Amino acid sequence: MCGIIGVLGFHEVAPLLVESLKRLEYRGYDSAGIATVNEGRLDRRRAVGKLVNLSDLLVHEPLAGKAGIGHTRWATHGAANLGNAHPHRSGPVAVVHNGIIENFRELRAELAEAGITPETQTDTETVALLTRMFIDRGLAPREAAVATLKKLEGAFALLWLFEGENDLLIAARKGSPLAIGHGAGEMFVGSDAIALSPVTDRITYLAEGDYAFVTRAGAEIFDAEGRRANREETRIDLSSTRVEKAGYKHFMAKEIAEQPVVLGDALRHYLTPEGVNLPAELDFSGLERLTLVACGTAFYACSVAKYWFEQLAGLPCEIDVASEFRYREPPLPAKSYAIFVSQSGETADTLAALRYCTEKVQKTIAVVNVPSSSIARECDLALPILAGVEVGVASTKAFTCQLLVLAVMALKAGIDRGHLSADQVQGHLDTLRALPGLMNAALTTSNDIAKLAERLAEAQDILFLGRGPMFPLALEGALKLKEISYIHAEGYASGELKHGPIALIDRLVPVIVLAPHDRLFDKTVSNMQEVMARHGKVLLITDSKGIAAAEGTWAQLRLPEVAEPFAPILYALPAQLLAYHTAIAKGTDVDQPRNLAKSVTVE
Ligand code: F6R
Repeated sequence: MCGIIGVLGFHEVAPLLVESLKRLEYRGYDSAGIATVNEGRLDRRRAVGKLVNLSDLLVHEPLAGKAGIGHTRWATHGAANLGNAHPHRSGPVAVVHNGIIENFRELRAELAEAGITPETQTDTETVALLTRMFIDRGLAPREAAVATLKKLEGAFALLWLFEGENDLLIAARKGSPLAIGHGAGEMFVGSDAIALSPVTDRITYLAEGDYAFVTRAGAEIFDAEGRRANREETRIDLSSTRVEKAGYKHFMAKEIAEQPVVLGDALRHYLTPEGVNLPAELDFSGLERLTLVACGTAFYACSVAKYWFEQLAGLPCEIDVASEFRYREPPLPAKSYAIFVSQSGETADTLAALRYCTEKVQKTIAVVNVPSSSIARECDLALPILAGVEVGVASTKAFTCQLLVLAVMALKAGIDRGHLSADQVQGHLDTLRALPGLMNAALTTSNDIAKLAERLAEAQDILFLGRGPMFPLALEGALKLKEISYIHAEGYASGELKHGPIALIDRLVPVIVLAPHDRLFDKTVSNMQEVMARHGKVLLITDSKGIAAAEGTWAQLRLPEVAEPFAPILYALPAQLLAYHTAIAKGTDVDQPRNLAKSVTVE
């Protein structure tokens, strides 16, 4: 979602602001802008669309100044047009914002009573107008920002810049993350460490409810009650914030290709030669239930894991999408763990679901890619998935690494609960250890997939079918395809086909069947035959044992054999490659698909 950057530097800041915004592009945005203070004078430039439009504007209308703020906006309130782009300005106040001011309508009414009329449709402008109102009433910028903060409800990160103040940024965090970067006599503020990594590796994360007065001399941080707060300064590993395409055309292509390596790293972390390496405090033996909550792709990882926890550990497992779970207010047994899966660790709904579970369950566990994230920090235990920075908006390597960590947890649960024999455990460990090699082999199907994708790109609708743990993978395959190629796609449990979706089948609807030769294979093949009997165009993705059933299909892809029940980790790769190559064939923006954001910090 929206990206924020602020700089109090020694040199002209405009180029640095734009450079930092480029590093935040991966979060998704539809307009961008910067504001600076130059010799006391506040000014701004904004442009709709890609950052290159802002850069072009700055060539013709440069912006001088050594103090500035910048923003990439992902529209929530009001269209993605110039007027609604950030920074928002009112008189001496400029502000950028990520998140939602939930009570902005009430605040607008209050402003109207004071004779102040907004010019935009955004909730953010309310913040600028309120701050200005307080300044007009005689408050200094710091007091005005704090007075404004007290009136705001919702989840947000805010950064203010003021006319006449060459050495002041005010930052505030409630719900959405914000980090302060320390330089040598320079100071920075950013939405994440990635934005700050070109300028510093010394970071202080603001805690929930904090606000900070930042000058070149340092940052004074206050908690939600206005008390001075000491927040730890940490050094980030700059290699962990590297965002380069490394010769690939797209981040998504690079991230798909990286999977054998990152999965290998995660395996080395979570498996020892003897067995599973998870914190001892993670003990599944006495549990009555597990609850897994997430959004989007991370939810599909949970959906696959449900099969694993139930089959390998006999542990009842409830899964839900966070946006439903948080308002459903489900009863939770005390003898249960709640697991929150999130690449970013900042997804607003998942965070709210976690807060609902805190104190109700025995332990809350985060499975996240960003160890410093809000979800990681607020859970009792955080397990990193070790995927490395994921820049492509469509999640790929984070998905398979989430699956790996959940698979290892399910194995531990099976061991703790005495549900697996030593031989079974060994067999599952061997399967997991073999995955990076199998993934390398699966990646060699990329050229074949590219050829098939040219045909798939002509389709209006595509169905994905799977059974058992391959059913959630069918859902994930359909999500991946629709989000980057914009082709309508649905995933179904193969057995559900004749309960409705078979009505869609004709010569024009490709049906992608994800079917390793497992104990459910024959049943899936029967469903596939039903599709072909109605002239459906089937692409069968299977292994060398299953390929014999491919007669009459439109196309086949052969993957290496992988033992049950971990096939979804391997079959994720052709599903991702199908989406990638179909999007390429359609010429869509693979890394930043329309309307999508990488980190969804609003509900
Ligand atoms: C799809 C995708 C999204 C995310 C979802 C949750 O490719 O990436 O569906 O999985 O927005 O995000 P995180 O994992 O950051 O909580």
